[in-house]
Amino acid sequence: MAAETNAGKRLKSLTGMDAWKALKVHAKAMSDVHLRTLFAEDAKRGERMTVEAEGIFLDYSKNRVTDETLKLLLDLAEESGLRRRIDAMFSGEKINITEKRAVLHTALRAPKGTTIMVDRKNVVPGVHEVLEKMAAFAERVRNGAWVGFTGKPIKNVVNIGIGGSDLGPVMAYEALKHYSKRDMVFRFVSNVDDTDFAEAVHDLDAEETLFIVSSKTFTTLETMTNAHTARAWMLEKLGGHESGIAKHFVAVSTNAAEVEKFGIDTANMFGFWDWVGGRYSMDSAIGLSTMLAIGPDNFRAMLAGFHAMDEHFRTAPFEKNLPVLMGLLSVWYTDFFDAQTVAVLPYEQYLKPFPAYLQQLTMESNGKHVTLRGKQVNYSTGPIYWGEPGTNGQHSFYQLIHQGTRLIPCDFIAFYHTLNKLGRHHDMLIANVFAQTEALAFGKTEEQVKAEGTPDWLVPHRVFEGNRPSNTILAEKLTPKVLGELVALYEHLVFVQGTIWQVNSFDQWGVELGKALAQKIIPELESAGDPELKHDSSTNHLIRLYREHKG
Ligand code: F6P
Repeated sequence: MAAETNAGKRLKSLTGMDAWKALKVHAKAMSDVHLRTLFAEDAKRGERMTVEAEGIFLDYSKNRVTDETLKLLLDLAEESGLRRRIDAMFSGEKINITEKRAVLHTALRAPKGTTIMVDRKNVVPGVHEVLEKMAAFAERVRNGAWVGFTGKPIKNVVNIGIGGSDLGPVMAYEALKHYSKRDMVFRFVSNVDDTDFAEAVHDLDAEETLFIVSSKTFTTLETMTNAHTARAWMLEKLGGHESGIAKHFVAVSTNAAEVEKFGIDTANMFGFWDWVGGRYSMDSAIGLSTMLAIGPDNFRAMLAGFHAMDEHFRTAPFEKNLPVLMGLLSVWYTDFFDAQTVAVLPYEQYLKPFPAYLQQLTMESNGKHVTLRGKQVNYSTGPIYWGEPGTNGQHSFYQLIHQGTRLIPCDFIAFYHTLNKLGRHHDMLIANVFAQTEALAFGKTEEQVKAEGTPDWLVPHRVFEGNRPSNTILAEKLTPKVLGELVALYEHLVFVQGTIWQVNSFDQWGVELGKALAQKIIPELESAGDPELKHDSSTNHLIRLYREHKG
């Protein structure tokens, strides 16, 4: 199978690769090497171990690596056929082998005139057709030409979706709020929990509200339940006028038949394609709420950012390639230092939901335990991604990163300029970024603590071991373009990880079992008579308890 070969040769198992074996030996030698030593031995390390591309600057010098480590990791990338995999993805090969699909989120931001073939059809013109339809719609809503059933312009937009049909739109809206139309309200409903919908609409005037039902499949339980509830809510507010629905509901989906069945005119449907994975879809029509908020020009600027990072990833030599370096570094810690997690720490309030967005991107992609060939892996794959914006995290979980027993590689993300200058705030914020990475790397020795006059009994508590690795990512300021670049950076980093681990980063069978069981349990919770329960004793008992309490 093409996706598993490197220049025609069948790929070796990861642990059988020469580079992997060499890394194993090298990792032993590196386990005790302190960042203090690495910096002391090379006065230029902090300037040397940096890369800048498309306005994104990465300082990776505070990682527990030497030139030899990097060489071996780059060898591993070569031996894993990364170059060939990148070409396969960009050219539309069906590398999502379990779903027999191409993986072409990069086509969503390909400029007009590009040719990318899937099943002998160039997909790029279709992408631009949808973008133009979105832009025309967004303009009409934003300038008040699109009115609701009673003639009022739309002021409120509620996106109904979950997973990739929610997390990207939520994150992009929050991240780019500075650029948004402030006299419009944007809400996001994802959870099937009644409260999510109730709170989202409780203060909204239905006559001024537009629902975007966003679902790739248009069959997802949570989204369809919320969409039906929204429809009933709207109908009630419009006095039961079914004809009003068309003015207050649009759909984003790949499934025209289901959209029609739901009662949304397919003229008001914005399509995308099966070669766009849910967690890779925020720059497709799934981004309609984003475009409504920030306008078509800013949305295009975001796409340009995505594309710039795509081109960097596709063409830059691996040793200067941001996603390649960051992907390889995360493999280094996951597999050779037994790191279980990666903390993403944006020092930019607008990026508050960025870690939550990355959780689906990274963990739904690489939370896999079998290889493309269906063999159980004998190494660790996808780490747990998590994080919070600085400086809040510093007053909560950073204690564990500094002095706990676990190694937690961190990505610090910050900007030279704030979008809301208030006195000295920004200098203080950035001082904290640099202070944290310095403290993590260099710590504070016993001698230093003693020299401060600390009583002996307190010394061990005040020692910072240091040697905690981090990346520092800097950019000019948070713009739509930079957001596109950052998201694409992580998308491609995930791709690099998946390539090394030889997993399919583009399916998500792991979410199926729970979904199927919930479908079985729903009628058991709702049936009038006593249902015959055939689960394990715990699940049976929980179902009975719920039924008793529900009354
Ligand atoms: O959680 C599984 C999943 O399929 C995600 O991959 C996807 O983003 C989400 O559900 C929502 O799916 P849909 O857009 O089809 O409603």
